[in-house]
Amino acid sequence: MNSKHEGQTTLLIVDDNPTNIKVLFEFLRKVGFRVLVAKDGGDALNKLQSAVPDLILLDVMMPGIDGFETCRQIKANPNHRDLPIIFMTALADTDNKVKGLSLGALDYITKPFQQEEVLARINLQLKLRSLTRELADKNQQLAELNSQLEQKVKERTSQLEKAQSQLILSEKMSSLGQLVAGIAHEINNPVSFIGGNLSHAQDYARDLIHLLELYGKYYPEPEPEILEEIEAVDLEYLVKDFTKLLDSMKEGTKRLADISGSMRTFSRSDTRTRVAFNLHDGIDSTLMILKHRLKGNDDRPPIEIVKKYGKLPEIECYPGQLNQVFMNLLSNAIDAVEEKNVGRSFDDISADPNCITIETEYFPESRQVAIRIRDNGIGMTPDIQNQIFDYLYTTKAVGKGTGLGLAIVRQIVEDQHGGTIALASQPGRGTEFNVTLPAQLST
Ligand SMILES: Nc1ncnc2c1ncn2[C@@H]1O[C@H](COP(=O)(O)OP(=O)(O)OP(=O)(O)O)[C@@H](O)[C@H]1O
Ligand SMILES: [Mg+2]
Repeated sequence: MNSKHEGQTTLLIVDDNPTNIKVLFEFLRKVGFRVLVAKDGGDALNKLQSAVPDLILLDVMMPGIDGFETCRQIKANPNHRDLPIIFMTALADTDNKVKGLSLGALDYITKPFQQEEVLARINLQLKLRSLTRELADKNQQLAELNSQLEQKVKERTSQLEKAQSQLILSEKMSSLGQLVAGIAHEINNPVSFIGGNLSHAQDYARDLIHLLELYGKYYPEPEPEILEEIEAVDLEYLVKDFTKLLDSMKEGTKRLADISGSMRTFSRSDTRTRVAFNLHDGIDSTLMILKHRLKGNDDRPPIEIVKKYGKLPEIECYPGQLNQVFMNLLSNAIDAVEEKNVGRSFDDISADPNCITIETEYFPESRQVAIRIRDNGIGMTPDIQNQIFDYLYTTKAVGKGTGLGLAIVRQIVEDQHGGTIALASQPGRGTEFNVTLPAQLST
């Protein structure tokens, strides 16, 4: 309830002595206060339930609940804790004053009253109370400002972190892209040169062999030295093998050309233009770049790659960015199977081989493609699953993981392509990431 009565300050006098009440009441009314009266402690506590004054003048010695107890009970109510209370007492002894003050009273006035003193003490307390309120208001405002400021700083910091980590990753990717493009270019020249010359070499070999056959036909009985040499070099085998050898060299250069082609596909990291892109080319070229990590070694057999490619249309996208997505999901899958290998022998692993399955599918009704990348690696607890898309969240050793991969993946899939990414994972069993992309970007 409001303590003000048309802007008037309200005082509550609690006293069992009618004469005291009368004297105070008249005096205080005269100087402009609105005055309420209670005739004992119980009455005062009752009155407080319906009207809260700005200050209480409380007699100490009262029948029933005395002043100290009344004070204690008023202060026990959180709504009235800050109500200024001035004790009125005839007792001048220090013990009682200390007791009252320790209960939360602010001041004492001693009977018989000196009117000026009463007024001065009341005004002092009221002034103190209004200053305290102002201070609390200011503090409150300050705290609000402070928390707004903290919020702003937090937002800015996280924006900054986000921008910084994006920069790091796009830097990382673009320097990887440049490196790969550079190597592809370097490989390409000698490869096409070898490939071109090999065709000539095959023609020359065919001609030379034909020439030898002609010699054999018209000179069936050559000199003994020639016969000896024919036997020494095992001419028949040499002719057969030379042709095969040239064929396999040709196959080899074709493979090299494929590799450098994939490398160029992969390094199409020009992220600004959207073009029609065959996602399978993107996945295959990424697998090619990761080949060295898939190969078998002394500790484990090769990681199996199972491709279940559906029939996909070319999709409109930023190819460099999507290659980045495949790169991150596939390297995470490799990390996950490698981590599961820890502590297992070659034979253990062969019995339950590392495997990554890549599945693609087109949904013509929704014009969406799905790419699912599944591994049988260590998997994740629900707690980890909740955090993997956070910037800088990693469970990997310092220097091994930066915790940016999936944050960037999510951004590329959702923000840049309007797609979705979801996952299912079981600790110790494996993980599947499911990416869907619209076949056509919305503008
Ligand atoms: N296929 C997966 N299997 C199990 N855990 C995974 C898999 N993919 C991601 N995680 C978990 O998610 C975390 C975050 O992955 P994210 O790719 O964002 O960062 P990172 O791989 O640790 O570091 P980097 O920035 O080098 O990619 C990983 O540290 C790992 O704990
Ligand atoms: Mg990663």
